[in-house]
Amino acid sequence: KRFLVINGPNLNALGKREPGVYGKESLENLENQLIELGKEKGFDTVCVQSNYEGQIIDWIHEAEGHYLGIVINPGAYTHYSYAIRDAIASIQLPVIEVHLSNVHAREAFRHESVTAPVVAGQIVGLGFKGYHYALCELLERS
Ligand code: DQA
Repeated sequence: KRFLVINGPNLNALGKREPGVYGKESLENLENQLIELGKEKGFDTVCVQSNYEGQIIDWIHEAEGHYLGIVINPGAYTHYSYAIRDAIASIQLPVIEVHLSNVHAREAFRHESVTAPVVAGQIVGLGFKGYHYALCELLERS
């Protein structure tokens, strides 16, 4: 069993970027935790990150047939990328959307997610744990 974790723009700067909002731990740290979780529970986690919309769309398309589900944090694309939304809608795999911060407690532009209507579910505001829970959910569904 294999799951894909996609992190979008600016998440490569995790740990350095607005630590009061996103925490002090790095993306590498998050990815290692998710790989470890897979080892404990018996699945493979593949983690990717890009600052480019088209790259994220290609990964979503290519996931079919290679993975049993996707965990995605589209970063700011969440709020306006109809192209990422359409890519998610175009595949059959379960996709779970995760946000580290509680987007609803922040600026108004973060309250809308254009991707939320086409994902299986959304986890917000729980930091790294959100990714753990999302992978556990995908495991249950697979
Ligand atoms: C984020 C929330 C987005 O609004 C923001 O643009 C991000 C990170 C989060 O994980 O809380 O880049 O997706």
